[in-house]
Amino acid sequence: MKAIVYHEYGAADVLRVMEIEKPVAENDEIRIRVHAVEATKADCEMRGFQFAVQWFWLPLRIAVGITRPKQPVLGGYFSGVVDSVGKDVSNFRRGDEVFGSAGLYFGAYGEYLCLPASYTIVSKPANMNFEEAAAVPLGGLNALHFLRKAGIRTGESVLINGAGGSIGSFAVQIAKSMGAEVTAVDSGIKCDMLLRIGADHFIDYTREDFTRSGRSYDVIFNMVANSSYSSCVNSLKPGGRYLMGNPRLADMLRAVITSTFTDKTALFAFAGETEDELLALKSMVEAGELTSVIDKIYPPEQAVEAHRRVETEQRLGIVIIRMI
Ligand SMILES: NC(=O)c1ccc[n+]([C@@H]2O[C@H](COP(=O)([O-])OP(=O)(O)OC[C@H]3O[C@@H](n4cnc5c(N)ncnc54)[C@H](OP(=O)(O)O)[C@@H]3O)[C@@H](O)[C@H]2O)c1
Repeated sequence: MKAIVYHEYGAADVLRVMEIEKPVAENDEIRIRVHAVEATKADCEMRGFQFAVQWFWLPLRIAVGITRPKQPVLGGYFSGVVDSVGKDVSNFRRGDEVFGSAGLYFGAYGEYLCLPASYTIVSKPANMNFEEAAAVPLGGLNALHFLRKAGIRTGESVLINGAGGSIGSFAVQIAKSMGAEVTAVDSGIKCDMLLRIGADHFIDYTREDFTRSGRSYDVIFNMVANSSYSSCVNSLKPGGRYLMGNPRLADMLRAVITSTFTDKTALFAFAGETEDELLALKSMVEAGELTSVIDKIYPPEQAVEAHRRVETEQRLGIVIIRMI
């Protein structure tokens, strides 16, 4: 089968399209004919083995391959059609249209992907095509997970820093559906897109530092590594919640102190990416509360360009690779 592979860590041009062996589903697995896969920031970070936050560098490098990647096929968030089913699998049938997460197994940059049937994979929203559906799991699962932890009440003010990215564009819509007044922070080119998907206010971070505006918020959801922890916490109202998508080690320690000794709460987490959460996202999509903002769709042969597009951050939404 055809797959986009990388055999060394490095810049986008280490990606190649090659023929590799077609996987066979084990007894507890399903094989999916991948139709579309998101090219994510995490794929780019893994490919270059460069991360905005450094504390997990060594344990992760040991896990994924010290000198070269053990799993040469990236791609964690996909849509496709179930093509074969292991003999112990009862919850899927051949021909099911699905979307989901391969988690840290990756592998969705190939024409076929085998995963345990217990993974976070559910039937595709009826009102989305495969490209739109593949854009949902990464941003949607992470945004939903964090925003639920914040316990948002109707009318509360929520600021989303890094709102124009994969997670942020879903966070804006999910916070709106929870009844919040949403302020989106990102670079100016993303203003129109963010207002279109429901943000009430927009701040261009290249012109204004939201932590110096004198305004405060009930919830700040921060996707931007290297933000000032104290400035963000100081921009919370009494009882406010600070959600960190990309925390440094020191910020995690400070979060424990903030949550224990003040009336504010600082939270960090790795989204569990559960089936319940994906089903909730599917319902929101089908109810018209959630949409995918797609920037560009690339063929596998242009995977290098797709990764460069994700890395240069000039994109207005999510970058998809169509595998069929
Ligand atoms: N905790 C978890 O479980 C978890 C899970 C997945 C991902 N993450 C992490 O969360 C981060 C966000 O993920 P993502 O996929 O949404 O990334 P993304 O798509 O690259 O989005 C990041 C957004 O932030 C904007 N930005 C950059 N600098 C900014 C600043 N100083 N102020 C405001 N906005 C700024 C970027 O725009 P411009 O660069 O154009 O300005 C971009 O629109 C990644 O670093 C990822 O590793 C965490």
